[in-house]
Amino acid sequence: MSVDIILGLQWGDEGKGKVIDFLSQKSDYVVRFQGGNNAGHTVINPFGEFKLHLIPSGIFQNKTKAIIANGVVIDPVVLLEEIEMLKKVGINLSNRLFISPRCHIILPYHKLLEKIYEEAKGNGRTGTTGRGIGPVYSDKVGYNGIRFYDLFDKSILSKKLKTQLRLKNSILTAYNYKAISHKKLLHQLLTLADQLRPYIKEPFPIIQKALQENKKVLIEGAQAVFLDNDWGTYPFVTASTIVSGGITGGAGIAPKYIKDIIGVIKAYTTRVGEGPFPTEFDNSDSELMRNLGNEFGATTGRARRCGWLDLEMVRFAVELNGITKLALTKIDVLDSYKEIKICTGYKLKGKQVRYYEGDANFLSKITPIYKIMRGWGTSTKGVKDYNKLPAEVKEYIKEVEAQVGVKVYYISTGPSREEMISI
Ligand code: IMP
Repeated sequence: MSVDIILGLQWGDEGKGKVIDFLSQKSDYVVRFQGGNNAGHTVINPFGEFKLHLIPSGIFQNKTKAIIANGVVIDPVVLLEEIEMLKKVGINLSNRLFISPRCHIILPYHKLLEKIYEEAKGNGRTGTTGRGIGPVYSDKVGYNGIRFYDLFDKSILSKKLKTQLRLKNSILTAYNYKAISHKKLLHQLLTLADQLRPYIKEPFPIIQKALQENKKVLIEGAQAVFLDNDWGTYPFVTASTIVSGGITGGAGIAPKYIKDIIGVIKAYTTRVGEGPFPTEFDNSDSELMRNLGNEFGATTGRARRCGWLDLEMVRFAVELNGITKLALTKIDVLDSYKEIKICTGYKLKGKQVRYYEGDANFLSKITPIYKIMRGWGTSTKGVKDYNKLPAEVKEYIKEVEAQVGVKVYYISTGPSREEMISI
């Protein structure tokens, strides 16, 4: 068994990019299996600081190959920009980056349709990243998608675009947007196809060979469990399947190969976009933590909502995904707090309830049960040795482990690759 999966166990932005960058030092392959360029994985390493939206964060390791598997949806313009950015700092992508021809393509009308839907919902909007993710996945499951396969046959592409533009343009013009020109879009896509062609290759046999040879394969989850289309706080979720079992559909990897499922949690909770958030701070506390933790979206720059660590969420995510190890990030952001709260469960009408007992509306009504932990009042920034952590941090970690039943193996104490404790 040689496949490890890295998943965010909150609402995204747990610091997965950093954990993946750290763990991929020992990986032969890093694979993305869902989501698109709604993700923003921040990586700080000897090459510089990067925000990767599509290309797996393992690309910085010379010996590691990066795969964007079939479950990922791709805006080809963003992909090309990312390729150029990496080439500029001297990263060789030739024979190292493979993109599945099954990936669905985000087209300009997807982004416009998303705008129309969000505006129509008013206060009930999801608060999306505006990258066209919902509409492109809708087209995928509704058999209206255009895939990378289609880019390499002009007549097929032209025909499919014609049909889709007939449908989409009628909605766009009804909402006072300009109709998209078939000729222009076709030309743009054919030009992009030429530039991307060297990287489009079916990854299935590559991954199968790697599995037979017992190579180390790391799966890079994007977004996080509570944005999963089924198990998250619907409709305040994203459009993809994020849970560990999703790797079979999203990357063609059978469950029998999975070894570790590593859940990444931030020492507190953040969320961008709308939707319930039981442990959310009021405005001034949120602002304080936002500034301490630099909690602004890597993709959209939006201010993240902040709150205490919610272990009922983490407990459920552990059960749902079969998490075997935890990585705890941004512990240093809590350095200045005198006391730190942890949510250990939920109450509704005086009765203890679980996350899965209701929907987003139910979650907006529950009251968190808190345990108060002692703060440590000293800097943990950059600590690399577990024994050098203050006793209160160790207490905090032990409490997390006891509450959710999984051990913490990695503790991140700062944004760069070396600021990491491996237990
Ligand atoms: P979408 O994925 O752009 O459709 O956005 C749906 C919801 O997921 C919104 O609340 C977004 O803010 C959130 N979201 C999507 N991708 C990410 C991510 O990578 N990190 C955090 N939140 C995300």
